[in-house]
Amino acid sequence: MCGIFAYLNYLTPKSRLEVLDLLVTGLKRLEYRGYDSTGVAIDSPDSKNIVMVKRTGKVKVLEDAILEHFSGGEYSEPVMTHIGIAHTRWATHGVPCERNSHPHRSDEGNGFVVVHNGIITNYNDVKTFLAKRGYEFESDTDTEVFAKLVHHLWKTHPTYSFRELVEQAILQVEGAFAIAVKSKHFPGECVASRRSSPLLVGIKTKTRLATDHIPILYGKDIRPHGQTRELPVLPRSDSTSEFMPLEEKEVEYFFASDASAVIEHTNRVIYLEDDDVAAVRDGTLSIHRLKKSLDDPHAREITTLKMEIQQIMKGNYDYFMQKEIFEQPDSVVNTMRGRVRFDGNAIVLGGIKDYIPEIKRCRRLMLIGCGTSYHSAVATRQLLEELTELPVMVELASDFLDRNTPIFRDDVCFFISQSGETADTLMALRYCKQRGALIVGITNTVGSSICRESHCGVHINAGPEIGVASTKAYTSQFISLVMFALVMSEDRLSLQQRRLEILQALSNLADQIREVLKLDSKVQELAKDLYQHKSLLIMGRGYNFATCLEGALKVKELTYMHSEGIMAGELKHGPLALVDGSMPVLMIVLRDPVYVKCMNALQQVTSRKGCPVIICEEGDEETKAFSSRHLEIPRTVDCLQGILTVIPMQLLSYHIAVLRGCDVDCPRNLAKSVTVE
Ligand code: M6R
Repeated sequence: MCGIFAYLNYLTPKSRLEVLDLLVTGLKRLEYRGYDSTGVAIDSPDSKNIVMVKRTGKVKVLEDAILEHFSGGEYSEPVMTHIGIAHTRWATHGVPCERNSHPHRSDEGNGFVVVHNGIITNYNDVKTFLAKRGYEFESDTDTEVFAKLVHHLWKTHPTYSFRELVEQAILQVEGAFAIAVKSKHFPGECVASRRSSPLLVGIKTKTRLATDHIPILYGKDIRPHGQTRELPVLPRSDSTSEFMPLEEKEVEYFFASDASAVIEHTNRVIYLEDDDVAAVRDGTLSIHRLKKSLDDPHAREITTLKMEIQQIMKGNYDYFMQKEIFEQPDSVVNTMRGRVRFDGNAIVLGGIKDYIPEIKRCRRLMLIGCGTSYHSAVATRQLLEELTELPVMVELASDFLDRNTPIFRDDVCFFISQSGETADTLMALRYCKQRGALIVGITNTVGSSICRESHCGVHINAGPEIGVASTKAYTSQFISLVMFALVMSEDRLSLQQRRLEILQALSNLADQIREVLKLDSKVQELAKDLYQHKSLLIMGRGYNFATCLEGALKVKELTYMHSEGIMAGELKHGPLALVDGSMPVLMIVLRDPVYVKCMNALQQVTSRKGCPVIICEEGDEETKAFSSRHLEIPRTVDCLQGILTVIPMQLLSYHIAVLRGCDVDCPRNLAKSVTVE
C-alpha cells in the first residue's frame, strides 16, 4: 500500500540535498509495502516555491531523477528549518503514471501539496463542488481534491491557521486516509492526520525529551450531523490554545506510515489515532482533535520503539523473504519467550490472561483474518476445538462482512493480522465490537490499529516482516494460537497428557525448523524441475490442509504460476480430473491420524500416472516408495506438523520466483499492508 514519509528539521541545519536523501531513504524503507510510483516535494532554493519530482516505477528511478534535477549548488546550502514530503503510491484511482503520483498540488503555484494513503470515498462530490468554483483537475486521483479543497478554504478563510485549514478539509472528506500537507504559504509547517490508515510521528532531539506525553487539544465539533456535502459553512474551531508544547529548541520530526522508516533516526514515536491532527509550527508539535469523546486520553504517549535497524536490513541475504524464512528458528522462540515455561509446563499470555475466565464462558470462538493470517486460523482450528471444547469458526474477513454475519455479546472474536492494519480485518473488528463481542487481536505490529482497537491480545513478536509474502509471521501466528489453546486447557485433567506432548514438541521446534531449513538446496533443485510449469497442485488433509492453502498462496503471489491447495478428501469430487503424467503435484503425507487416507489419495494420484513430490516424515520408506521425489521432515506432534511442512513450501515458492525472475520481495500488484477494502 502507499507509504508516506515527511521530514521537518527545525533549527537543525540541513541542505535540501540532505533532506532529499533523507526522504529517498525513508521511501526505500517503505518499499516493501508495495507501490508503483513515487514522488517528493521540497522548497525551492529561494524558499518561495515548492518543487516536486515524481516518477513511475521504483524509488531508484526517483532517486536518479532527483540527482539529475537538483544538481545546482544552491541545493547544497544548509537551511535551518525545512519540510519535505514524500510518497510511494499504490494505484487505486487512476493508472500508475507521473500525473497520478503524489504529492498532489492545489494549484499551478503549488500553494499546498499533499501526500495521501487510503481512499477518499466522497471525492466525486468534493470534486464537483470545487469544479463549480473553477478548479481544474490534472489527475485521476481522489487525493487531488484534498489539496484543492485546502486551497479553496484558504482563499475563503484567509485568517485560518494551516492546521485549521487542514482540519476543516478533513471534516469534509469521508473514507480512510492518512495525509501530510506542506504549503508555501506556511513555510516550515507541516500538518498531518489519519483516519483508518496508519501514521506516526518520530521525534528526534539532541537531549532527552522533556516530556513523554503530548497533550491533546480540542475544538468544538463544528460539523452539524450529516453535513458533508455543503462546503464550506465552517465556523472556526475554538481550541483553548493554539499550540501546546512539545517545545524543543532543535528538533527533527518524521511523519511516516510505519516505524521501519524512522527507526534509523529515532526510536521515539507517537502513533496517531483516528482523527488526530498533528501540526508542527515553530518547531513545536501539537496534537489536536475536533471531537472529544468520553474515553479519550488527555495526551498521546511517546513510545520508545524496541526495533533495531538491523531488523529491517537484508544482512547477508539476497531478499528479505529469504532472510525471514531463515529467521524462523529464532522468531518462533521469540513468540514463546517469557510465555512458555517448559520446566513447569505453564503458559502465561500476559495480554489476555485477565480475560481468560470470560473467554471460557463464551458461546463460540471466531477467528477472522485475510490471506496468510486466515490460513493460520485454518491451521489451528482443529487444536482449538480439541483443547477449548468450544465451537470454532474460521472466517475470511471480507466474506464475513459481506454476509453481515450474526455476532453476539458472548462471542469471542480473534482478529489475526501481521500488519494490524488490513482494512477488511479492521472493519470486521469494528463490526464485532459494535455488537458487543470480546475482541482479541493477534498482531505483529505494536501500535497498529487492530492492536489498539482490541480489548486484549497477543503480540506474536516475530520481528519486522518486510517481504510482501508472509512467512515468519505465519509460523508465529500459528504458535500464538497454539499457546492460547494450551492456556485454555490448563485446568482440564483429561487433557494434561496431550498438553505435555504439545509443550514437549514446542520445546524442540526451533531445532526441527533448523533441520527443515537444511533442505534448502534440495528444494532449489526441485524448483528447477518445476519453474517452467504453468501450474502446481498441493494436496493434503487434516492438520496439513492449511499448509496446502498457504503453500499455494505463496506460489501464486511470488511466482505468478497457478497453484491450488487441495483438500485430499475432495480429490475424487473433482480435482482428480486435473491429474495426469504432466501435472506437477505436491502431496503432504505424514504419520498422523489421517495417514491412511492420505496414502489412499497418493495411490489415486500415482495410478493416474502422477509423479508427486512427497513431503513425508524422515525415514518413512513405505511412503517414499511411491515417488522418486521427496522432502523428509522431522517427526513432531500432529498439531505442529503444519509449521514444519510449510517451510519447504516457503522455500519452494522463493526459489521458483528467483528462477522465473520475479520480484521476490515486492510481487506485482500486491502490497504488504492492504489498507483499502
Ligand atoms: O497484515 P495481514 O496479516 O492482515 O495481511 C493479510 C494478507 O494481506 C496477507 O497475509 C497476505 O495474504 C500475504 N501477503 C500473503 O503472503
